[in-house]
Amino acid sequence: MNLSIPQITCLCGTRQVPGDKSISHRALMIGAIADGTSEVHDCSRAADPMSTLSCIKQLGIHIKDRGAQIVIHGKGRHGLRLPTAPLDAGNSGTTMRLLSGILAGQKFPSVLRGDSSLSLRPMKRVIDPLRLMGANIHGTDTNTAPLIIEQVDQLHGMRYELPVPSAQVKSSLLFAGLFADNTTTIIEKSQTRDHTERMLGLETKNENGSLSIEVHANVKIGGKQFIVPGDISAAAFLLSAGLIVPGSNLRIQNIGLNPTRRRILDLFRSMGGSIQIDNERIIEGEPIGDLIVQYSELKSNLDLHGAAVVDLIDEIPILSVTALFAEGSFQIHDARELRMKETDRISAIVNNLRLLGCEVEEYEDGFAFEGRKKYSGTMLPSYGDHRIAMAFGIAGIRIQNVTIQDTECVDISFPGFWKELLTSTKM
Ligand code: S3P
Repeated sequence: MNLSIPQITCLCGTRQVPGDKSISHRALMIGAIADGTSEVHDCSRAADPMSTLSCIKQLGIHIKDRGAQIVIHGKGRHGLRLPTAPLDAGNSGTTMRLLSGILAGQKFPSVLRGDSSLSLRPMKRVIDPLRLMGANIHGTDTNTAPLIIEQVDQLHGMRYELPVPSAQVKSSLLFAGLFADNTTTIIEKSQTRDHTERMLGLETKNENGSLSIEVHANVKIGGKQFIVPGDISAAAFLLSAGLIVPGSNLRIQNIGLNPTRRRILDLFRSMGGSIQIDNERIIEGEPIGDLIVQYSELKSNLDLHGAAVVDLIDEIPILSVTALFAEGSFQIHDARELRMKETDRISAIVNNLRLLGCEVEEYEDGFAFEGRKKYSGTMLPSYGDHRIAMAFGIAGIRIQNVTIQDTECVDISFPGFWKELLTSTKM
C-alpha cells in the first residue's frame, strides 16, 4: 500500500513502542531450550519475532499466548523435536542466524528457509564458524538460505575471533557453544549488542583491547521471567520526528537503554537535540527509562566511522534522514554491512535522498551530504525494508508531497507505526 504522508503540526503526549526485537527473539529461543516454564512479558508482536515464535512451535514447544505474556513450556536443550516441514524465518536474519546455532546441536536434521530478501543475505558468516565447531550445515552454492543442517554426533568448542562485528553471528556461536563438549570462546574487537550474554548470564572479559565471552554445555538455563523493554531502535523514529517537527514535546515510555544500543541518543544530542531520560531503572539486568524529546534546532557536522557505526547499525537510515533537517554535513564510512541488511541500505538511502533533491556522494562503505537544503516531495520506494519505509516516512512529515510505497513492511519491526506517528497528540 502507498501512503501519502501528511504534514504534522506537533507531536505531543506519550507513546509506547513495541518490545525490543533483539531481546524478544532471544527470550523466545532461550525459553524454548530452558528447563522449565518461562514467561515473556511485553514481547514484540512484530513479524520478525513472530517468525521465531512459529519456528519454536514447529520444533515442538508448547506456547500459551496470554496477551501481555507469552508462556513457553521449555523442554531443555535436548527437548526440541524434529520439525515436519522446513522452518520459515520469513524476513528475519536474527531468526535464521541465531536458530542455526541451536539447530546445529540437535540430534535431528532441519531446514531453515526465508523470504526473497532473506534468501539473498550472507550466511557464510554463520556456516563457516559452525562448521569449525563440527556442524554439518550448508546453504546454496552462494552460501545463502535455505540452510540445511544435518544431525552430527557432537559439536566441539572453539576459540573464534569474529571477522565482521555481528551480534547475530556471535549469538549463533554462543548458542552452539551450549551443545559443545568443551568451552567456546568468542572474541570481538568492536563490541556488538550484548543481550545474549546478559540473558544467558555469561561473563565478558577484556583481553588486550578485545572482548572475550566464554560459554560451555554446563551453563544452566532455567525457566524464568523475561521482561522485554521498549525497542530503542523503534523509538529512534519517534525521537527523530519529535526533534524535527516544531512545537513537539513527546514522552516515549519504558525504553531499553542498554549501553550497546543507546548510542543514537548521544548522536541526536550531539546535533543539539533535546532528549532527556526520566525514571531510569534496571529491570532483569537491562537499564530502562522514559525518553522525553522536544523540538530542537539541529546542527550536524557528523563524521561517523569505525566502532561508532557498529553501535548505530540499525539507526543509520533514521539518523541520515534527521541530518537532512540539520545545518551542516553528514558523512559515514565503514558501513559496508549496511549493504547486507534487508535491502542494500546504502543504495536505498542514497537513492531516496537524491529523489528528494539532496546532493549525495555515495562511497562503497557509506555516503555524504549537506543538510538543510531545499527538498521536494515525491514518490519514494521502501524497497520492502521496514527501516527505510519508516525513516523516509519521517522525512515526509517535514517535506510536502512525499508518498511512501509498500508501507506495510513496517510490520517487520513496528506494527502500528503509521498510527503512532500520524496521531499527533496522544495522552
Ligand atoms: C541484531 C543484530 C544486528 C542488527 C539486527 C538485529 C540482533 O545485526 O542489525 O537488526 O538481534 O542480534 P548484525 O549482528 O548482523 O549486525
